[in-house]
Amino acid sequence: MNELHDTYRLLLVVYAVFSPLCFCISLAGSGWYGRLAPGWSRPYALPGRWAWFAGEIISPIALLYGASGRQLDAPFLTTNTYASSGHSADRNAWLASVLLALWLIHYTNRAVIHPLRVPRMSPMPAWTLAAMMIFNVMNGWVNGYWISLYAASTGQALLRAGLAGKLKFAVGLGMFVAGGLVNYYADSHLFQLKRASLKDRPSKEHPGRYRIPYSRLFSLVSCPHYLGEIVEWCGWAVMTSGAPGYLFALATMANLVPRALSIHAWYHRTFSDYPSRRRAIFPWLL
Ligand SMILES: NC(=O)c1ccc[n+]([C@@H]2O[C@H](COP(=O)([O-])OP(=O)(O)OC[C@H]3O[C@@H](n4cnc5c(N)ncnc54)[C@H](OP(=O)(O)O)[C@@H]3O)[C@@H](O)[C@H]2O)c1
Repeated sequence: MNELHDTYRLLLVVYAVFSPLCFCISLAGSGWYGRLAPGWSRPYALPGRWAWFAGEIISPIALLYGASGRQLDAPFLTTNTYASSGHSADRNAWLASVLLALWLIHYTNRAVIHPLRVPRMSPMPAWTLAAMMIFNVMNGWVNGYWISLYAASTGQALLRAGLAGKLKFAVGLGMFVAGGLVNYYADSHLFQLKRASLKDRPSKEHPGRYRIPYSRLFSLVSCPHYLGEIVEWCGWAVMTSGAPGYLFALATMANLVPRALSIHAWYHRTFSDYPSRRRAIFPWLL
């Protein structure tokens, strides 16, 4: 258990270094995949859908492994915190159950439904897949480990805090659900555009396999799907109030804000009639 806890703490330090590093690399203009991937990476690219599936499915597996508590010699529903509290496991397990369910719902969509729904997915450079897998193992495991060790006491503390605790949890859950819906519907709109662009021949107005998105979600920002994803994981951080939750929210921003800026600049370069008042990711701000 001590060795495992040392590993957990070490991974938190690695994780804390990861986000600023990822932010700087992405800001320096490195496109990891999709339209931003550099041309020279094409010979090393893997089929998009399969690469995406392989890279993302690891996350719920790592989370379940971390949360199973098998390595602690006590299943997550009956950790020491539960036992010593004198409360029944059922009453204390509520936060762990909610968090596990939310993670599984998110990653079922991201790993399985998303690649099935997308009409076409650009090939993914091999090192992007490798980076995605390493990140998802680390992120899934530390979040799962946190759940196995701290979700019970955090759940109790939320209940003990009365209205304030319930309100905090409700705000976090509301952010997670609202962000997830924005993300899902914005993704859906991009899939529609992709489907249309694959049907038509490229023209002067529509030069490639991309179109200008005009739905309501896109009226304020170029990347509402990324904004939704950020709000979602900030909601997770509010619900957990744990280091892995905050680190995941930060990592999501470190990854998606520079990518949104690059995509926004790409839209402006590609379409001369791109709406000038639209921001990249945060309405009216950035
Ligand atoms: N938590 C995280 O750190 C994280 C990181 C990355 C992604 N994600 C999530 O994963 C999902 C997909 O992300 P992504 O980076 O792949 O999004 P993306 O680059 O915007 O692409 C999504 C799909 O839509 C297509 N597409 C995008 N813009 C289009 C346009 N204007 N016209 C026609 N087709 C268009 C893309 O085609 P092409 O493949 O041909 O470009 C791709 O199939 C998002 O929901 C995102 O939030 C999360």
